[in-house]
Amino acid sequence: MLRKILTWSLLVLLVLIAGVAVATMLRQHLTYDAPYPNIKASADPVLIERGKHIVLVSHGCAQCHSSVQNIDSVLKSGGEPSLAGAKRVDTPFGTIFTTNLTPDASTGIGRMTDAEIARVLRYGVKSNGEAVLPFMQGQDMSDEDLTAVVSYLRTLKPVANQVPAHEFTWLGKFARAFVLKPTLPAPGKSQL
Ligand code: HEC
Repeated sequence: MLRKILTWSLLVLLVLIAGVAVATMLRQHLTYDAPYPNIKASADPVLIERGKHIVLVSHGCAQCHSSVQNIDSVLKSGGEPSLAGAKRVDTPFGTIFTTNLTPDASTGIGRMTDAEIARVLRYGVKSNGEAVLPFMQGQDMSDEDLTAVVSYLRTLKPVANQVPAHEFTWLGKFARAFVLKPTLPAPGKSQL
């Protein structure tokens, strides 16, 4: 009797695990809707300078999107480190590689429109509709700040640097399937 119960419990457990595994794999590329902010890059040097400050100093974008070794001292001395990405970040969810933020068309963000860049920063939705991994804290940037950031990124020299694909662990795949959602602006800060 006990043996029978155990066998059946084990079977049920295996079926459950298989079900979760299949659902996890099926839910790796969920897509979401989000509006496109009305943002256009500007050639205004004041705005570009402001964008540079946000990217290099106040929002720490360069810390993640540069693979330069001594990033802190480069930034401290007022240098402009390459933002060609591919910095490797090891997490329990997997090995993540940061995006190449230079305007290179095939390996950077050259093919993203200004509005697509603004949308992923504000609403966490990528060009293909998938949720961006929750590393970035740009959701509450004003239209002016977003314009400044995009304007600065457009002035960078294109650098061809192919970023490896992320390698997710099972925990990462599970989180992508059932937990990851676009990171929306805080209530009241939404520009909708
Ligand atoms: C803590 C590390 C970190 C910081 C800080 C950071 N990023 Fe990122 N960023 C990432 C990672 C990791 C990805 C890749 C995310 C993915 O593939 O879902 C990424 C992706 C991007 C993308 C591409 C999104 C897409 O649609 O594929 C853009 C644009 C971007 N970041 C801009 C910025 C800007 C601008 C800032 C500063 C306001 C910034 N990031 C700050 C880690 C960071």
